[in-house]
Amino acid sequence: MILLKNVRLTYPSTSLTILNDVNIHIAEGEWVSLIGPSGSGKTSFLKIVSGLVECTEGVVHINGMNIKELSINKRHEFIRNYISTVYQQFRLLPQFTVVENVVLPLIPYIKQKKELENRALELIEKVGLSHRIHHFPYQLSGGEQQRVAIARALVSDPSILLCDEPTGNLDTKNRDSILDLLSQIHKTGKTILLATHDNVVAKRGDSVITFEDGAVYKGVMSP
Ligand SMILES: Nc1ncnc2c1ncn2[C@@H]1O[C@H](COP(=O)(O)OP(=O)(O)O)[C@@H](O)[C@H]1O
Ligand SMILES: [Mg+2]
Repeated sequence: MILLKNVRLTYPSTSLTILNDVNIHIAEGEWVSLIGPSGSGKTSFLKIVSGLVECTEGVVHINGMNIKELSINKRHEFIRNYISTVYQQFRLLPQFTVVENVVLPLIPYIKQKKELENRALELIEKVGLSHRIHHFPYQLSGGEQQRVAIARALVSDPSILLCDEPTGNLDTKNRDSILDLLSQIHKTGKTILLATHDNVVAKRGDSVITFEDGAVYKGVMSP
């Protein structure tokens, strides 16, 4: 569950208010599309949910926890346990192989390395890349790199998956297969927030948040 109450975001460096009085409730297991033109605040919204940016005013509850009330260390731990992000640019580490990229986020936190590697291999199989585990990112297509990034995002078994224009760098065939993969993941009970300016992509969600001139509205996705 994600709840934003009276959230305002003004970036201190520019004094521009990007989000104003946002009130949004996202239920557990919902797939919500975030739509709006470039610069309308979709990424900023996702960063507030992932704790990377603190809102200027208002309250953010994630799974019942007011994240502002947590110390920095507790907040990082909380977010690490519940939230992962998938980016448009994949953001894999080029010097590491597929399996290494997937295990990396949890290396500092999990002592049983074999167990972690097994978990990674299971996820790599789920995203259809078992035959590529020792390959480097430059040896993969964009669609394959995004599959690795999705496996990496799932390695901590988060309840919330944030996707920021995850198909923005892909052709329509790869876009659709990544969306099918996200559908499978959604069926396992995960909450998905997906920012896009592509209507085909947005239609895959159960509901939509529209970003317009600093205002944000949530509605049901029309068929
Ligand atoms: N760190 C920052 N400091 C100041 N302004 C920012 C920062 N990040 C984003 N912005 C501004 O906030 C607005 C919304 O940006 P963003 O959230 O990236 O929108 P979107 O993802 O919808 O394109 C833009 O005008 C952008 O320039
Ligand atoms: Mg953005």
